[in-house]
Amino acid sequence: MNKWFYFNSTVLLIAVWQVFHLFPTIPIHIVIGFIGVVFILFNWTRHAVFSTIRNTSDRNRKIRLANMSKKILPFHRWIGTTALFIIIIHAILVIDIYGLYWRNAKYVSGFVTGLILIGMVTTGWMRLLRPTGRKRKAHIYFGLALFFFVTIHVML
Ligand code: HEM
Ligand code: HEM
Repeated sequence: MNKWFYFNSTVLLIAVWQVFHLFPTIPIHIVIGFIGVVFILFNWTRHAVFSTIRNTSDRNRKIRLANMSKKILPFHRWIGTTALFIIIIHAILVIDIYGLYWRNAKYVSGFVTGLILIGMVTTGWMRLLRPTGRKRKAHIYFGLALFFFVTIHVML
């Protein structure tokens, strides 16, 4: 297994803990934040799969993984775009409850993560419509930043 599978599973487990330890009274804005995490991590797994394809010497495994990611590709753009809409709803509900809460680390980290997600979805569409090497790099760097900021936001 590629190390990214372990990183991704760890973040998912942290999110599950942060959300479900509130059971049975999990507020809706937190449930929606959790669904956003799941959508983002699903798309980010593409990075784990691509790294595995690059690093494995097993030819059959390479082919199997490449075919699988080809099948997922049509869903990738809609899962990413939907994640953005889900997080906008999360942010609207949060602002409705707490107002603009700039002194709070959770709020600020969420805000930054939201901005990076906008960058991720924008570079994704730019890359799809007119691919270039720079856009590919930008999409990956936004992805790395997104992953780390989601981790911070969920852990705080
Ligand atoms: C990609 C973006 C985001 C993701 C994946 C995300 C995910 C989550 C999750 C799973 C939680 C609940 C877990 C916990 O409380 O530890 C949460 C809570 C929170 N989020 Fe976000 N969020 C994002 C963006 C935002 C944005 C844009 C804001 C603010 C504008 C924000 C503000 C908050 C706040 C204040 C809480 C705490 C709510 C409470 O404890 O009642 N988040 N977020
Ligand atoms: C949460 C949002 C998203 C995440 C985490 C994400 C993540 C990724 C990752 C990790 C890759 C593989 C990078 C590589 O090594 O080349 C990728 C590729 C790509 N993404 Fe995204 N992405 C997101 C949203 C989007 C959106 C909204 C679009 C819109 C069209 C998009 C379009 C693409 C395209 C065209 C590729 C290259 C095709 C391929 O994988 O063969 N992405 N994305």
